[in-house]
Amino acid sequence: MSKYEVEIIEAASPRTEPILWNDLPFGRVFSRHMAIAHYDGKAWQPPRIQPLRELSLHPGTSALHYGQALFEGLKAYQRSDGTRFAFRVKDHWERLNHSALRLAMPEVPYELFSEMLRALLRLESDIFPPDLEHALYIRPVYFAVDPWLGVRPSESYLLVIYLVPVGPYYSGEVRAYVETEMSRAAPGGTGSAKMAGNYAAAMLSGKKAQKHGCQVSLWLDALHREFIEEFSTMNVFIVLRGPKLVTPTLERGTILPGVTRDTLLHLARHLGISVEERDISIQEVTDGLVHGKVLEIFGTGTAATVMPIRGLYYEGKFWSLPTESPIAHELRRLYRRLLSGEIESPNPEWIWVI
Ligand code: COI
Repeated sequence: MSKYEVEIIEAASPRTEPILWNDLPFGRVFSRHMAIAHYDGKAWQPPRIQPLRELSLHPGTSALHYGQALFEGLKAYQRSDGTRFAFRVKDHWERLNHSALRLAMPEVPYELFSEMLRALLRLESDIFPPDLEHALYIRPVYFAVDPWLGVRPSESYLLVIYLVPVGPYYSGEVRAYVETEMSRAAPGGTGSAKMAGNYAAAMLSGKKAQKHGCQVSLWLDALHREFIEEFSTMNVFIVLRGPKLVTPTLERGTILPGVTRDTLLHLARHLGISVEERDISIQEVTDGLVHGKVLEIFGTGTAATVMPIRGLYYEGKFWSLPTESPIAHELRRLYRRLLSGEIESPNPEWIWVI
């Protein structure tokens, strides 16, 4: 018996509305249950499952004041033969702990994380998606709950996992606003952690982006405002003539180490496309657009999967990007074939059968 056996303390009432898979706004329909584990300052307490509902929090809850709050995003799928699996569970768990370490939060044991996830996915068996165009987005959120205003790491924490049936994250074209005034992350900061504060710090830039007809910001490095880093919701890839795929290096620790980014790097190598992880200046991108050297730009992320970018707004000028994205589409197709089992997974652990 597992040390972290999950107890279902209360079952939710049955779902009354069907899930409209073809008309599903991202992040608005939720599983009926959630899994919760409490760290009490000394140890993780046995996890439980209960109906998904509001949490009761003290106004002094540490995460609300000092921001010890982080999350993950992964997906579960159903193949046409009925196989149900979650994708790259261990890699997401590792990144959760990478973020936790940076925020001085206790490590989450793999057994705890995976038991909670498995129990929840088994219980919510009626909301599995009908095809691989749709998924169950899994959202673990982990935050500090000490009701105490002293500035020091909280002693107690909650880890909550719930599910969100989803289709595409973006419903239309995506254009990017190159942010030249604000920074997302500096070396030594929290850029590689999936913490709530990184997203909060990007909101104002998101509003500027919208004013310029863009859906995302593209961040530049904080020191020089020279090298591209990532989009506000995705990692960034540039397709150069060749074709050659270039994506910013993770070395400075300012970029989220995207699991989809890593999957795409594997798939590109599988296709025989040459891949470089290196610094890319915004100047190299705009020069490349002028000289026809930059063929495509796309973003990758668990929520967005592979998303072609149709334009860049940079320093008062709008750069249209090619309307065709053969490499992004080929990689997206390959990703789908990996999920469907038509091509072998580079690592058998990536397919975590429920
Ligand atoms: C994800 O892709 O999982 C994210 O967390 C990005 C967010 C914009 C939904």
